[in-house]
Amino acid sequence: MSDIVTEITGGILRVELNRPDKKNAMTGAMYTSLADSFRGAADDEAVRVVLWHGAGDAFCAGNDIGDFLNNPPGPSESPQARLMNALIDFDKPIVAAVQGVAIGGGTTMLTHCDFVYAGESAKFQLPFINLGLVPEFGSSFSLPARVGHVRAAELILLGEAFTATRAAELGLVTRVVPDRRELATATETAQKLTAKPSAALRASKRLLKRFSIDQLRAAVKIESQEYVERVRSAEAKEAFSAFLEKRPPNFTKTTTPVAAE
Ligand code: COA
Repeated sequence: MSDIVTEITGGILRVELNRPDKKNAMTGAMYTSLADSFRGAADDEAVRVVLWHGAGDAFCAGNDIGDFLNNPPGPSESPQARLMNALIDFDKPIVAAVQGVAIGGGTTMLTHCDFVYAGESAKFQLPFINLGLVPEFGSSFSLPARVGHVRAAELILLGEAFTATRAAELGLVTRVVPDRRELATATETAQKLTAKPSAALRASKRLLKRFSIDQLRAAVKIESQEYVERVRSAEAKEAFSAFLEKRPPNFTKTTTPVAAE
């Protein structure tokens, strides 16, 4: 079975992250496959809305950390960038269902969705700072755009986990629903959307994004440059190795020494 499962029924493209034993952590191949699904759906008249969810007990634990160590994204178009660009261009509604964890990219990808339904025990986190990284997926723009600078700074600079209720207060989640109702609720919304006039839906989404899309593209470009450096840094390598070795990171020896005057 593929790590990305797709199925089109009744105007809905269902996209499932299907790597439950790794909490649906995203590999390069998964980003590429997801990007292709969104690109294909954009041109496919049989698709009116996308329903996005994860298999097992998690939505997504972010980028695969082993993949980061072995195949860090480079300056040319990375699989992550392919997905980001496909999401930025996509003008059909995206409805997401979140159960369990949505960490790192698992949260930032949601900032490109139109509806997000989270189970009451869902947990969100932007742990980039703890990994020696910077925000990605355009989130240096899309996050403050959704929640405001002060709240975005708290989430990004402290990198602490937060609850579904807090995510809804912040405006990252449409509605918190009882656990195990996430997918059913998201499906109901997707079904409602399939009954709407599709051309007007797409035009409405384009209008909603019109004033932010250029800033989002600019953010992605600048973030990518910074990310390529950070992901290869001693700090990040220590954080990734610590995760894989199941130990706390030790950043005391990873600081770049200040050059003598
Ligand atoms: N990359 C690679 N592997 C990951 C992963 C990730 N982002 N997230 C989880 N996994 C793997 C674990 O290594 C573990 O693999 P193993 O069974 O071979 O040891 C498996 O998924 C299950 O995770 P585990 O940590 O045992 O489950 P948990 O319920 O105790 O914790 C998380 C789940 C998601 C809270 C924890 O795995 C975690 O913090 N993951 C890292 C999330 C992260 O920092 N993502 C941002 C990347 S930019």
